[in-house]
Amino acid sequence: HSADAHRTDLMTITRFVLNEQSKHAESRGDFTILLSHIVLGCKFVCSAVNKAGLAKLIGLAGETNVQGEEQKKLDVLSNEVFVKALVSSGRTCILVSEEDELAIVVEPSKRGKYCVVFDPLDGSSNIDCGVSIGTIFGIYMIKDHSEPKLEDALQPGKDMVAAGYCMYGSSCTIPKKGKIYSVNEGNARNWDAPTAKYVEKCKFPKDGSSAKSLRYIGSMVADVHRTLLYGGIFLYPADKKSPNGKLRVLYEVFPMSFLMEQAGGQAFTGKERALDLVPKKIHERSPIFLGSYDDVEEIKALYAEEQ
Ligand code: AHG
Ligand code: MN
Ligand code: MN
Ligand code: MN
Repeated sequence: HSADAHRTDLMTITRFVLNEQSKHAESRGDFTILLSHIVLGCKFVCSAVNKAGLAKLIGLAGETNVQGEEQKKLDVLSNEVFVKALVSSGRTCILVSEEDELAIVVEPSKRGKYCVVFDPLDGSSNIDCGVSIGTIFGIYMIKDHSEPKLEDALQPGKDMVAAGYCMYGSSCTIPKKGKIYSVNEGNARNWDAPTAKYVEKCKFPKDGSSAKSLRYIGSMVADVHRTLLYGGIFLYPADKKSPNGKLRVLYEVFPMSFLMEQAGGQAFTGKERALDLVPKKIHERSPIFLGSYDDVEEIKALYAEEQ
């Protein structure tokens, strides 16, 4: 309809959250303020990403993070912006970032009741060629307001109160079954049997259905974004070299699994529902299979056969 082509009644995250807030008499606006600081961080990173080439923000920062990955300049800059935005919101207590080895405990005068886990820039290998990258975050409520503890960041994913991502570069219900599989097939020789069987089925289905298409961007945000809109399955499985896969539980696996379930899909680790995992370390990794409900059912069945 032509009215949709020129929308003038602008909906923003802040407007949406304020509107939700007004439906809850007991709410005091803390979550709204926290979210608006996250949005502020995303806006800054978005503009930094857009002018990265001109502003000399492309390339390596020269340091290695706790995961052993070389940090890009934009990884470091985005992390600093998010940490400062979150601390200054006055609503956070504990922060866990991919780029910081230790959890950050917010100084007492700036403390609030939320714990935020985040990947400031996901898909950093795609920065220099302009392919979609993003930010991932998850939010927990801390247990004891007066005394924030590391355990506040190590709650199972199902206890997150919210999660989200923002994609840079360019309301979902996900189809029950999709036509796309998404995985780094370069690791195939190290896969376990169920993963190998599953991908084989995607390519050579025996039930008369048509083969799935392969789409793999290499930025989780972008691969999961596509999965939310088009359906199908995204896999970062365990392999012989990386027995826990690559993706980090707190700020990659949990938030994206949370969103996938909210949209009607599923997220599975190869052993259990991803959101049931109870992390022991802040930078812990886990294999992950997430996407359309029926597609994830299939991989679950293959792992069950193994038992
Ligand atoms: P990050 O850039 O935050 O370190 O995350 C990279 C992750 C994730 O975005 C993506 O799904 C995966 O690495 C891609 O890994 P491969 O290059 O091994 O396929
Ligand atoms: Mn990284
Ligand atoms: Mn990432
Ligand atoms: Mn990252």
